[in-house]
Amino acid sequence: MRTRALSLLLALALAGSFFSPSVAITDTIDLTTSITGNQTLLSAGGVFQLGFFSPTGARTYLGIWYASIPNKTIVWVANRNNPLVRTPGVLNLTSDGRLVIFDRRNSTVWSSPAPTTENQITTRAAAQLRDNGNFLLSSDGSGSPESVAWQSFDYPTDTLLPGMKLGMDLKKRLNWNITSWSSATDPSSGIYTFKLIMGGLPEFFLFRGPEVIYASGPFNGAGLTGVPNLRSPSFVFKVVSTRDETYYSYAVTDPSLLSRFAVNGEAGRVQRYVWTNGNWSSFWYYPSDPCDSYAMCGPFGYCDMTATPLCSCLPGFRPLSQQRWDLRDATGGCVRSTKLTCAGAGDGFWPMDRMKLPQATNATMYADMALDRCRQVCLANCSCRAYSAANMSGGVSRGCVIWGIDLLDMRQYSGVVQDVYIRLAQSEVDALSAAGLYF
Ligand SMILES: *[C@@H]1O[C@H](CO)[C@@H](O)[C@H](O)[C@H]1NC(C)=O
Ligand SMILES: *[C@@H]1O[C@H](CO)[C@@H](O)[C@H](O)[C@H]1NC(C)=O
Ligand SMILES: *[C@@H]1O[C@H](CO)[C@@H](O)[C@H](O)[C@H]1NC(C)=O
Ligand SMILES: *[C@@H]1O[C@H](CO)[C@@H](O)[C@H](O)[C@H]1NC(C)=O
Ligand SMILES: *[C@@H]1O[C@H](CO)[C@@H](O)[C@H](O)[C@H]1NC(C)=O
Ligand SMILES: *[C@@H]1O[C@H](CO)[C@@H](O)[C@H](O)[C@H]1NC(C)=O
Ligand SMILES: *[C@@H]1O[C@H](CO)[C@@H](O)[C@H](O)[C@H]1NC(C)=O
Ligand SMILES: *[C@@H]1O[C@H](CO)[C@@H](O)[C@H](O)[C@H]1NC(C)=O
Ligand SMILES: *[C@@H]1O[C@H](CO)[C@@H](O)[C@H](O)[C@H]1NC(C)=O
Repeated sequence: MRTRALSLLLALALAGSFFSPSVAITDTIDLTTSITGNQTLLSAGGVFQLGFFSPTGARTYLGIWYASIPNKTIVWVANRNNPLVRTPGVLNLTSDGRLVIFDRRNSTVWSSPAPTTENQITTRAAAQLRDNGNFLLSSDGSGSPESVAWQSFDYPTDTLLPGMKLGMDLKKRLNWNITSWSSATDPSSGIYTFKLIMGGLPEFFLFRGPEVIYASGPFNGAGLTGVPNLRSPSFVFKVVSTRDETYYSYAVTDPSLLSRFAVNGEAGRVQRYVWTNGNWSSFWYYPSDPCDSYAMCGPFGYCDMTATPLCSCLPGFRPLSQQRWDLRDATGGCVRSTKLTCAGAGDGFWPMDRMKLPQATNATMYADMALDRCRQVCLANCSCRAYSAANMSGGVSRGCVIWGIDLLDMRQYSGVVQDVYIRLAQSEVDALSAAGLYF
């Protein structure tokens, strides 16, 4: 009891010194409690804090930030597009099981969705701010996985914390995407969104408005083919794809390491930060080099940071416009030097080694097809441009993908060992072999 009182005092002192005049009382609200004005919730271990904040003073938001970092680094905002103007606001848990922000006149500013029938709340329902930064509403207050009626981790703002998911839950119809703030003092949805697009092979895309500016490379069952396998002792990364959900997530091996992954709206990129020496330092970011620019070399072109110019046509292809290509505008891409015959043994394949796979959201994935069968299927279909292995079902050497669309956004050495077999006229394959070309 005394220890608890002491740690509470400590937490109060800690919070007080940084966020004066915030007063942290507890990590939980239930049907009989609420937070208003400068009151906050503090997670049990003192890692995260939840409360109202006003970046410029005029508009107020409910958010979550690190309790121990001097300047509020906001990692989640409830009402990003609906600021509270008639302060003070109050965050309540209503008897129908929703978390609601009311303004001074009791108008609803924001609300979590009403719980589904399986998660009707009981009188013990409670929403707890956890040390991982998740604000979790539990229908019976137990916090057990079955009792989760709503959680902030399912509604990311611009930041992915360790343990959060970026992707899609097809069963619960959740879209875990992250969208930049409009500006450093305006949390409303900005123009950059990083999100998963499902399809033949799933892939993460960074959008600037409607336009894609960066893509992670398709997920081939093992990794994202455009992201080098960053081996860091501090992080564990994973991509999971099942019938119900597909997502990217990461964990930190040392729980005291503060790290976040966010869409940086000012720089127009996705960025990982770690807190070191009293500062957020950038661990990496994408796009980070010209070859990361989406489809920078156009259809059937590929990008190589070690080459001049950066763009080349795939073997067996030539620039659509040599003139524009010479002016370093490769966006028009490449066309075949020799037409496909689309007959019998008239066509063959040329392997491209260690490639960031061409965009495959519109390609066709065959979960249980062996690679040599995939080759036959490709040859038998005149609109097939390429095929590659993809172990989506987790099977041994099972599964492949076929592109019946233009090949876009290939590069760099990706690091991921992956061959793409490009369909060419057999005469073209013979000529390349004779020339001893090897990619
Ligand atoms: C919010 O909750 C508090 C405490 O349960 C209660 O006193 C208050 O009336 C509630 N506000 C609204 C608008 O329901
Ligand atoms: C919150 O703190 C500010 C600054 O001290 C103070 O002006 C304001 O009255 C406080 N609001 C509430 C609701 O306590
Ligand atoms: C807001 O709602 C609470 C609870 O229903 C009530 O006590 C309070 O008088 C209301 N305030 C206003 C300004 O309507
Ligand atoms: C991001 O996800 C939210 C649901 O959480 C959805 O409403 C929104 O449309 C998504 N944004 C984009 C750009 O897909
Ligand atoms: C934090 O980073 C900024 C910008 O990179 C730099 O100017 C500042 O000196 C750093 N502060 C500390 C304490 O390292
Ligand atoms: C905190 O905010 C102050 C004032 O805006 C700024 O000078 C300082 O660099 C910030 N510190 C960090 C670590 O961002
Ligand atoms: C993929 O298909 C969708 C829907 O047909 C289309 O809008 C999109 O432009 C296609 N993407 C590419 C890269 O072909
Ligand atoms: C697929 O699995 C086979 C056998 O386990 C392996 O040799 C191959 O490298 C894998 N391919 C990919 C793209 O992961
Ligand atoms: C040939 O490939 C295209 C593109 O992948 C596909 O739409 C079409 O159904 C295929 N045709 C046959 C006969 O399999």
